[in-house]
Amino acid sequence: MIGDHPTRLFVNPRQGVPGVVVLTEGGFRRAVAEITAWPGYAPTPLRELPPQGFASLHYKDEAGRFGLGSFKALGGAYAVQKLVVGELARAGIRATGAEVFAGRHAPGVTVTCATDGNHGRSVAWGARRCRAGCVIFVHPGVTQGRRDAIAAYGAEIREVPGNYDDSVRAATAAAQTHGWHVISDTSWPGYTEPPRDVMQGYRLMAEEALAAMPSPPTHVFIQGGVGGVAAAVAVQLRARRIPAKLVVAEPEAAACLLLSAERGALSVVSGDLPTLMAGLACGEPSLLAWQELERSAHAFMAVPDAAAVEAMRWLADLGIVAGESAVAGLVAAILAGRAGALGLGPDSRVLVFGTEGATDPELYARLVTEPFTPPS
Ligand SMILES: Cc1ncc(COP(=O)(O)O)c(C=O)c1O
Repeated sequence: MIGDHPTRLFVNPRQGVPGVVVLTEGGFRRAVAEITAWPGYAPTPLRELPPQGFASLHYKDEAGRFGLGSFKALGGAYAVQKLVVGELARAGIRATGAEVFAGRHAPGVTVTCATDGNHGRSVAWGARRCRAGCVIFVHPGVTQGRRDAIAAYGAEIREVPGNYDDSVRAATAAAQTHGWHVISDTSWPGYTEPPRDVMQGYRLMAEEALAAMPSPPTHVFIQGGVGGVAAAVAVQLRARRIPAKLVVAEPEAAACLLLSAERGALSVVSGDLPTLMAGLACGEPSLLAWQELERSAHAFMAVPDAAAVEAMRWLADLGIVAGESAVAGLVAAILAGRAGALGLGPDSRVLVFGTEGATDPELYARLVTEPFTPPS
């Protein structure tokens, strides 16, 4: 069970204001057609958890996604596939996505990105399948287990100083020098195409979950790093015309989306971002994600690391393997429900996304068995 913990909650005063279309329906249809044709595709399970005072609490369990351990398999790898198809076309070679993903062409391109672990693994996996070269940038906080998982797909790993956002800049600079292609999960002014594809891939996770819900959710909680997956969920709720309240949950130490909402403009949290939730340790929101979330998120919450560890243990007792970046949304739902916030109560149908399994098995084993000391 999760004990009582302090949280920060900000209800978004700009929800509902008109905005730009960040992800088109045509782009989503294309992503679905490609990804569902990959070998081994199957929807991940939607699990019903003990309801915690709600009418229902569903957990979309991404631990088994394509054997990569997280929903990120849907995004980076799809963006690599789409890039390679495009680059071959520019060279006068017509190739289908399926041919490219089966490695039938040698495109002669190199892709690169920064990662906390999961995005780089997806890009490296996609690059291996599509026969592209791959160089992944990590910061010193990325665990050896996660580096090894990426290197297993043949990618070169380069460590650079600083935090995630610094490694994004290093990957971009290296790409400019060497003529590589950046496949980032975050976007900024003038760089939006691959991150858009990444987010279209993530929408498939949301679509599967919404299709499997016995009744539409009243509340959806999703964790935020740069905000890409939260924005993808927001777009999918709108595409299905489900008026659920969307709540974005971040670690206390890296709550850049919450800060942006409070300030009413995209804002940055700098420094080391000391949180255990490695995949959520991002200080700079994605431009595209922010453009979507500033008008569609109902609220933003920040939750402590200690509560995430308790949630991992609770899920482990239920037979569910959830990594440390998988549970911020679950924690936020339970703590907000207990406080009677956000209109949560016995009639609420709550959906949360368990976005990763044990993506670093050694760290996972330690966190669910040993006493927890928060990172400083
Ligand atoms: C397991 C997990 N969940 C959630 C996220 C957050 O995704 P985004 O950065 O798109 O907000 C990440 C990002 O790496 C992740 O690895």
